Amino acid sequence: MSVTTSREGYVGYVTLTNPPVNAIGKAMRQGLMDAVRWAEAENLDRVIVTGAGRAFAAGADAKEFDGAALEPFLPDVCDAIERSFVPWIAAINGVALGGGAEIALACRMRIAGPKAQIGLPEVTLGVIPGAGGTQRAMRLCGLDIALRMIAFGKPLSARAALEAGLVHAVEEDPVEAAFMVNTEEMQCVVPTWELPPPDMDEAAFAEMRDALGKRMAGQVAPLRALDVIQSGLTLPFHEAMALERATFMELKQGDQSCALRHMFFSERAAKPSADLPAAPDLSRVAIVGGGTMGTGIAYACLSVGLNVVLLESDDEGAARARGNIEALIEQGIKRGRLDPDGAEALRARLNITTDYAQAAEVDLAIEAAFESMEVKAQIFAKLDTALGPDAVLATNTSYLNVDEIAAATSDPSRVLGLHFFAPAHIMRLLEIVKGDKTSDHALAMGYALAKLLKKVPVLAGVCDGFIGNRIYTRYREEGDFLLMDGATPWEIDEVMEAFGYAMGPYQVQDLSGLDIGYANRRRQDDTCDPNRRYVPIADRMVQEGRLGRKSGVGWYRYPGGGGKVVDPLIEDLIAEEAHFAKVTRRDIPAAEVEERLLLAMINEAADILDEGIAQSAQDIDVVTVFGYGFPRWRGGLMHYADTLGVARIVDKIRTLEAQDPIIWRPSPVLVECAERGVSIADWRRAG
Ligand code: 3HC
Repeated sequence: MSVTTSREGYVGYVTLTNPPVNAIGKAMRQGLMDAVRWAEAENLDRVIVTGAGRAFAAGADAKEFDGAALEPFLPDVCDAIERSFVPWIAAINGVALGGGAEIALACRMRIAGPKAQIGLPEVTLGVIPGAGGTQRAMRLCGLDIALRMIAFGKPLSARAALEAGLVHAVEEDPVEAAFMVNTEEMQCVVPTWELPPPDMDEAAFAEMRDALGKRMAGQVAPLRALDVIQSGLTLPFHEAMALERATFMELKQGDQSCALRHMFFSERAAKPSADLPAAPDLSRVAIVGGGTMGTGIAYACLSVGLNVVLLESDDEGAARARGNIEALIEQGIKRGRLDPDGAEALRARLNITTDYAQAAEVDLAIEAAFESMEVKAQIFAKLDTALGPDAVLATNTSYLNVDEIAAATSDPSRVLGLHFFAPAHIMRLLEIVKGDKTSDHALAMGYALAKLLKKVPVLAGVCDGFIGNRIYTRYREEGDFLLMDGATPWEIDEVMEAFGYAMGPYQVQDLSGLDIGYANRRRQDDTCDPNRRYVPIADRMVQEGRLGRKSGVGWYRYPGGGGKVVDPLIEDLIAEEAHFAKVTRRDIPAAEVEERLLLAMINEAADILDEGIAQSAQDIDVVTVFGYGFPRWRGGLMHYADTLGVARIVDKIRTLEAQDPIIWRPSPVLVECAERGVSIADWRRAG
């Protein structure tokens, strides 16, 4: 039963009940429609609508979006509530999002609980509010707030909603408060649709379009929302509602909404497999290494209440680690995430030491030391003897072989990889790397940590770079081929930014430091195919001290430590290397740059799937979006590949294969999908 009704005297109670968050499906819409008629038939004084459990309602059930819309439609339900002669009061007990907020906005009054949130986040699913949100919100809270709330999709807290005029009161018990509302007072409240729309404000729209161009570039829904809001300033209410609905229906079927829904559900599907044991106890963690990564992980752990022993090799390292943590604490205070008491409590849970014995009691150790097998093997041998036999040992290596690291311990079953992304206290992705001998207990510990830290966990197998960095390495390599063939770093960056990345690959390298890639290439010198095309431009950059931002010059120049400036010297350097390699450079169209970079990543990712390094295409989507800035609204790398069509991709790769068969061998997974006519998302290993 999605809607339950009851009455107490002349007061009707309607409870939205669809656990866990009361998503609004067909049954709930029908239940609400019936409740309107019921309240009228019973001649009630008022109806108090609230949500069962922790939410009021999380919005329309996005699982229904793939199919045809089913009656009764939500805008009609909202209309019926708003126009009923029995006034409805929304007692907003928890989140009221999307359609949930729209039901509340159609009620005569809204009383929020202190923890309630009210928002119209439809753009995050690639649509606009489709049940009156664009029209009712602006009538209640004015143009400025409505524009921001709808176009950015960020919910308001109960307090902010009260200040904005979106709710009438914030009360500890909103149902009780709704019961107490004076009948005459309630009847004086004008139904929202009868309120006049705000006046046009050209500047507000211009400012918003500008902001969207920066913060939500490439996304269609926020701009369409602005159009509908703008039309609503002059259209009669019912015409504006029709326009809103038509826009919602059109966007719902579009590629962007499909991609964003895919990401919404993929993020939530990233969970441990059902056969893993229950989450083990986890309250004490040791982190080895107080550099940027180690302290980022330590700070993240401290922030969720874990006790942390941070192990350094000497006093100087310990002092540096302390400084790094203090900088993060200060940042947390400045951004309002921490108050001074919270900061003190956090410091009290931290022990920075060089003595491994002080970590003897921890449940989990995470090594985040220098990327060298020798260094890591020594650390793991020390952890193996210093920590209890049940402690799980994790390495944060980005590329190195987890099995080799595990071999330095007496019990490799307790070793796994936990690959964080910088900044570790902010980035949501956590690759959980399963070695040959990793036990289920160790894996369960990895997932337990991910849950505590609110990270999105993805299981990966052992290979150079796991899922994300292996794809990224191929991306970077193809970029260098493009440089050699005629493109410039800034052309490539511009193309990928236009595709939807916040930064192109060369800007990213400048940010992380060119020496990292250089060290990796040297590590692979002995194992890589000597016949594989190799572009030495990036090596030369490092040899000339062009390490990126940290040295003031990389692919770009950063005069005075400021923003990037195109460096014409780079073009000379590339031209010189092309001359040595006897490559005749040519103008490469933007479309070719984009295509080659994406095909390179897709083919590598398909190999990763083929080799069982990733469990599913969906996992690759999660990795590319949460760890590498692949545009979420394109649904992740493999989802995007499916929108291009696998057969088309294979054709294009075969054309490139004719020019370079080593680089462009089509992945067996792609070939199989093309032959069988299945999408990559639906590909499963035979047998
Ligand atoms: N549709 C379908 N399922 C939904 C859903 C929705 N709108 N919102 C949440 N769920 C599901 C999740 O998939 C998850 O399912 P699972 O347990 O099977 O994995 C479950 O509900 C719990 O969700 P979370 O794990 O996200 O729980 P949290 O407590 O962390 O977060 C939330 C709760 C803040 C409500 C978050 O789920 C959320 O942001 N939901 C989406 C809100 C939204 O975008 N609403 C707009 C929908 S579009 C719309 O309303 C159109 C209208 O204008 C016509």
